[in-house]
Order: sequence, then structure tokens, then C-alpha cells
Amino acid sequence: HECAKVRHACKGHAQCRVPLAGYLCRQQQHPMKFFIDTASLAQIKEAQDLGVLDGVTTNPSLMAKEGISGHDRVMKHYVDICNIVDGDVSAEVIATDYAGMIKEGEDLAALHPNIVVKVPMTRDGVKAIKYFTGKGIKTNCTLVFSAGQALLAAKAGATYVSPFVGRLDDVSTDGVQLIEQIRVIYDNYGYGTEILAASIRHPMHIIQCAEVGADVATCPLSAITALFDHPLTTIGLEKFLADHKKAATAVKA
Ligand code: E4P
Repeated sequence: HECAKVRHACKGHAQCRVPLAGYLCRQQQHPMKFFIDTASLAQIKEAQDLGVLDGVTTNPSLMAKEGISGHDRVMKHYVDICNIVDGDVSAEVIATDYAGMIKEGEDLAALHPNIVVKVPMTRDGVKAIKYFTGKGIKTNCTLVFSAGQALLAAKAGATYVSPFVGRLDDVSTDGVQLIEQIRVIYDNYGYGTEILAASIRHPMHIIQCAEVGADVATCPLSAITALFDHPLTTIGLEKFLADHKKAATAVKA
């Protein structure tokens, strides 16, 4: 059958078998991925130790925040990150012209098989993404703030598109709604580009992005760790342990 409101044939996803009015077919073949949005090796290690980390995103501001500058130090830092996490690691080009992006992107991609070349959403950027796609180099189209930009990134074959949820919220525009809109567009045509919800600020952003079907959320460590906590979990565990102790004391007596 055809899923409600989508043009491609349903591939038999469990949720699509009963097409409801307004229901949208989900094309994801994988569970939601968590990336950490930092260049801090300590934070990357901490997130990796939690056992739920799938990758890393960096940007020039995050690299500068860690005091990483100079070509060789920057390149070594990306390799250090790749050695901690077994997953995609986005490394952003600094060049803004096509030729410069190609040179930088090829150098970055040669560092490690997990490097994803992060390219800004510009005319030259989209052309560069198309070039990298043809060469089998993974890309992340960054600084995306509209559905039209996301469509262009998908047409160029980007591996990931990064809509900036938090920065849109900052200017009174619903960032999660953009994720939802891109999901609909990509599912309409079966684009394989993964929606990487970026500029995540807090745990509710992660949950909302999961609800609307983002493939990936790249988050500060604090937003990921906040997902663990609930006061009823803490209280419940304390009670279980206290009851266990009481029972053990009673048996001894
Ligand atoms: C990720 O790839 C982006 O560069 C990042 O999420 C931007 O986040 P910010 O808006 O908190 O700087």
C-alpha cells in the first residue's frame, strides 16, 4: 500500500501498516543516534563511558573553546577524537570557496574513515557536498535554518543535514517544527540524508526531536546526562535499598 500522505510505496514499516489520516511514513532503518557536540576530549570520554554515544560533532567555535589552533594541532585533535569514539566525527572546513573546501575536506577525510566533512550551507558548500558525495566522502551540511536549505543539502547527497534547533528558538522560531518539516519532505521522496538535530540546548529538545523523527541529536553532555535523572527514580531506589536492608536485618535477628 501507499502510506498516508507519502508518495513512495511503504516498505512495510510496522507503524505504516495501518495508514491513518495525517500519518507519515518513517524511513529510518536505524534507532536514534546520540552525538556529543563538543571538542573536549574529557567530555567525549565521559559520554563514551555512558555507553550511549554514537558520534561527535565539532565546529570552529568548539575547537577554539578548547584552545586548539594551528593546522597540525587541529588535525591531531580530530584523530584523538576518532580514537575515543567508534562513530562519525564531524570536522568543519574553514575555507568558504569551492576549491578551498575540496582541498580541506579531502585532507580531513584522509585522517580517519570516521571523519565526516562538515560544510556550510552556501552555494559553494552545496557544490562541494555534491563533489564529496561522488567521491564517497561523508558530509554534514551545517548552518541550516530552513526547509529549502535542507532540500538542497539532500539533493547534493549530504550524509547529514544539521538544522540548528536552539538558534532558531533563540529568535522566536520553532526549531523542532523545522525538524518535523524536513522529516516530511525527506520521507516524501525517500531522501537518504540523515536529519542531525543540532544546537540542542536541553533534554526536552532531545525528546521533541525524537518525537518528530530526527535521525540524530547532537547535544551538550549536560543535555544527555539530564535524561538519566528523575526524582522518583532516586526516591524509589532509596526505598528498595532501605527495604532490602530492613529485611536482611530482620532475618539476622
Ligand atoms: C553542531 O554541529 C553545531 O555546530 C552546534 O550544534 C551549534 O550549537 P550552538 O548553537 O549551541 O552553538
